[in-house]
Amino acid sequence: MNIVVLAAGMGKRMKSDLPKVLHPIAGKPLLGHVLDTARQLMHNAQAAASVDPNPALKAVGQLVGIYGHGGDLVPTQMAGDDIVWAKQEPQQGTGHAVMQAAPYLDDAVPTLILYGDVPLTRVETLNELVAAAGSNKLAVLTVFLPDPTGYGRIVRKNGQIHAIVEHKDADEATRKITEINSGIMVAPTTLLKRWLQGLSNNNAQKEYYLTDIVAAAVHDGVPVVATQPTHIWETDGVNSKVQLAELERIHQRNIADNLMEAGVTLADPARIDVRGTLECGRDVFIDVNCVFEGKVVIGDGARIGPNCVFRDATIGARTEIFGFTHVVQASIGAAGQIGPFARLRPGTELGEDNHIGNFVEIKATKMGNHSKANHLSYVGDARVGQRVNIGAGTITCNYDGANKHLTVIEDDVHIGSDTQLVAPVTVGKGSTTAAGTTVWKQVPADSLVLNSKDQVNRSGWKRPVKVKKT
Ligand code: UD1
Ligand code: CA
Repeated sequence: MNIVVLAAGMGKRMKSDLPKVLHPIAGKPLLGHVLDTARQLMHNAQAAASVDPNPALKAVGQLVGIYGHGGDLVPTQMAGDDIVWAKQEPQQGTGHAVMQAAPYLDDAVPTLILYGDVPLTRVETLNELVAAAGSNKLAVLTVFLPDPTGYGRIVRKNGQIHAIVEHKDADEATRKITEINSGIMVAPTTLLKRWLQGLSNNNAQKEYYLTDIVAAAVHDGVPVVATQPTHIWETDGVNSKVQLAELERIHQRNIADNLMEAGVTLADPARIDVRGTLECGRDVFIDVNCVFEGKVVIGDGARIGPNCVFRDATIGARTEIFGFTHVVQASIGAAGQIGPFARLRPGTELGEDNHIGNFVEIKATKMGNHSKANHLSYVGDARVGQRVNIGAGTITCNYDGANKHLTVIEDDVHIGSDTQLVAPVTVGKGSTTAAGTTVWKQVPADSLVLNSKDQVNRSGWKRPVKVKKT
C-alpha cells in the first residue's frame, strides 16, 4: 500500500520553536512513532505480496511525508531511503495536504492516510482498517467520544456512512453525533486522486477538507466502511504539552504492562520510563523510578534498585544494582553487586561477581571476575585483573593534561586506600600498594610498594586559637 503521513501543521498550542511532530514520546519524535508503524505495515504488506502468486500484488507502494511548518527540519531529521517528502505551503487543509502526495502514489495499491501527531495507533488496528477497505472501498477509522466537540462527525443514513461534517460546519443536530472521524483513512488510489481534484474550500474554514472525499465516494457509489480501534488513545493526537504528557503516560503504561506480561516484576508500573528497548530475562525485579534508554538487556534473576538510569547497557544474570546507579554504554557480568550511587561510564566491561560500591566511577575499563572497588574511587582507562581489591579513595591518574594513558592492575593485586596510579603504569600480579601511595613506576609481581615518608609526632603541640575580633 501507499502511506501518506500528514505533518505540515504548525502546532501553535505546543508553544515551542520545535515543529510539533518532532516533540518526543519515549525519547522518539511523535512522527518517528508514526513512521515506524507505517514501515511495519508496509513491510508486512510486502511480505504478504512476496508469497502471493498474483503479480498485481507485487506493487509495493510509496511512503510519503507531507511537511511545511518548521522548514526542512522535519524531512532532514526524519530522512530515509524509503520515504519521499512533499512540501505543503501554504497549509490549506488536510485534503490539500494529501494532494501534494498524489504524484508519488502508486495507483495499483490503496493509500492509507496517517497523521504525524497521532503516535500510538496500533499496527493491528490499521491492518483491520486496510482489510476492511479491500481494493475498492473507502474505509475510515472512527471512534465514539462522550464529548465530540471539535471533531468531524460521521453522518450515517440507514446505518451507512453518508458524509463527514466538520464541527465548524455542523448544525446542532449533527453536533450531537458522537461518532467522530479519527482522520485515518484508506482509499483506492485512482479514486482518491480523482476525489482530491474535485475538492472545494467552500466551508467555514476556507480549507480543502480531506473529509469531503466521503461524500464524493457516496456520490460515485463507492462503499464507505468504518472500523474502530480497540483503545481510544490509539487515535488521540497531540496538540499541547498536556496531551503530550498524557500520551507519554499511556505509552509508558503499555510498555510496563508488556514487561509484566513477559514476567518482569515492577514495583510500580506507573513509575518506570523506557525510552528505547528493554529486554529482560526471567524473574527480573525493577524498583521505582528507573529510566531505560537505548538498548538495555537485563539477565535472569537480576534486581534493579530504585532511581537508576541505564543507557545502552547490559546487566548479567543475578546481578543486583542498588539505588541511584548510572550505567551508560557499559556491560556488567553475572552475579555483580553494583551501587548504590555507582557510575559506570562508556567502555566499562565488568566480569562476574564484581562489587562496585558507592561513589565509584568507572570508565573505559575492563575488570576481571571477583574484583572489587567498593568505595569512593575513580577507575578510568584501566585493565583490572581477577580477584583485585581496589581500596577506598583510589584514583587512576589517567590524564596528563593532553592525553589519556592506561593503568594495568594484574590479578590478585591489593590496592591500598588512597592510592594514586599515575598512568601509564602497571602493578604486577599479586602485589600490594600501601595506603596513600603514589605509584608512578612499574611495580613488579608479588611485592609491596610504598612511598618513603616518615610519620612525625610532636608532643605538646598546640592548635592555633581563633583570634577574637574587637
Ligand atoms: C481533522 C479532520 C476531522 C477529524 C480530526 C481528528 C479534516 C478536514 N478534518 O480535523 O474530521 O475529526 O482531524 O483529529 O480533515 N495538516 C497538514 N496540512 C494542513 C492541515 C493539516 O499537514 O493543511 C495535518 C496536521 O499537521 C495534522 C493533521 O493534518 O497532523 C490534522 O490536522 P488538524 O488541523 O489537527 O485537523 P482538524 O482540522 O482538527
Ligand atoms: Ca486539530
